[in-house]
Amino acid sequence: MNYNVAVVGATGMVGRKFVQVLEERNFPVDKVYFFASKRSAGTYIPFKGENVIVEELKEENIKNKTIHFALFSAGGDTSLEYAPVFAKYNAIVIDNSSAWRMDPEVPLVVPEVNPEDIKWNKGIIANPNCSTIQAVVALKPLYDKYGIKRIIYSTYQAVSGAGMGGFNDLKEGLNGEAPKKFPRPIANNILPHIDVFTENGYTKEELKMINETKKIMHDDNLKITATTVRVPVYYGHSESINIELQNEYNIEDIFSLYKNAKGIILMDDVKNLIYPTPIDAEGHDEVYVGRIRRDFSIDNGLNLWVVADNIRKGAASNAIQIAEYIINEGK
Ligand code: A2P
Repeated sequence: MNYNVAVVGATGMVGRKFVQVLEERNFPVDKVYFFASKRSAGTYIPFKGENVIVEELKEENIKNKTIHFALFSAGGDTSLEYAPVFAKYNAIVIDNSSAWRMDPEVPLVVPEVNPEDIKWNKGIIANPNCSTIQAVVALKPLYDKYGIKRIIYSTYQAVSGAGMGGFNDLKEGLNGEAPKKFPRPIANNILPHIDVFTENGYTKEELKMINETKKIMHDDNLKITATTVRVPVYYGHSESINIELQNEYNIEDIFSLYKNAKGIILMDDVKNLIYPTPIDAEGHDEVYVGRIRRDFSIDNGLNLWVVADNIRKGAASNAIQIAEYIINEGK
């Protein structure tokens, strides 16, 4: 069977990647429907050699269609309003915004980590934050084998994570223009600030990493802290992850664990200067792990360096992998 797929926010950074990844992975598509704001309605986006019209997102344009999957990346407010509309007309919504992620009625899914949560969806499934996705893919094998007590995340995140606006701020900033999306210049600079600051001094991005990791791992007792940082890189988030495991380990076992882990490419041979960088991960759906080493300052401490393409595994590809899982394994 082939499926009808809607892409909501099709003209955006992640929306365009949805379209590309649907083509590349040869997703079993019958019809595609592209939605964006009124501004883009009437423009065309090519899909498999044909130009598909972009429609304005409104109920009128949804209700007369059979849509099996709706892939959303058009901001939180749009998701809050329109995900229930698509679900009402029997689509399964896979939403890339943060709007539904912490809703107890909505599963938050990374297929390599918690595919079992897909089955209790009620029409909406949330795609986690880009930084969380790559982190939990790397943490899952450790969690299952040794248990995890505490995690310290420090991120180095690409500008494309802030959409077209973020991308343009770096591009134009390198030509001396003032930023429009970010509050401070990102060209030749780094900003310890992603999403808005909250009362307790953490940014929302940091709280997303903390809360989403616990939800995906089904473990509220995990102790987690995070510092999330924007760097002048177009594509690919990097993360230093410091982990305190519950149980003793030996370092050779960690290497073999990652050699065989689902969705992970081990890139760790420092004698030959092999470690993952954003350029290595760009264009790929796997999570890259390297710089594996013991943290000698605590018992059972471990350091990892984790890199992934934030627009692919961190967003579009993860959502499409969720849809593929539903097709292959059932809801
Ligand atoms: P548009 O291009 O018509 O503004 P990005 O994250 O790269 O900035 O992309 C955001 C995506 O979300 C775009 O496709 C944008 O469409 C879409 N979008 C933004 N606001 C709305 C809205 N109110 N209704 C539908 N789509 C929206």
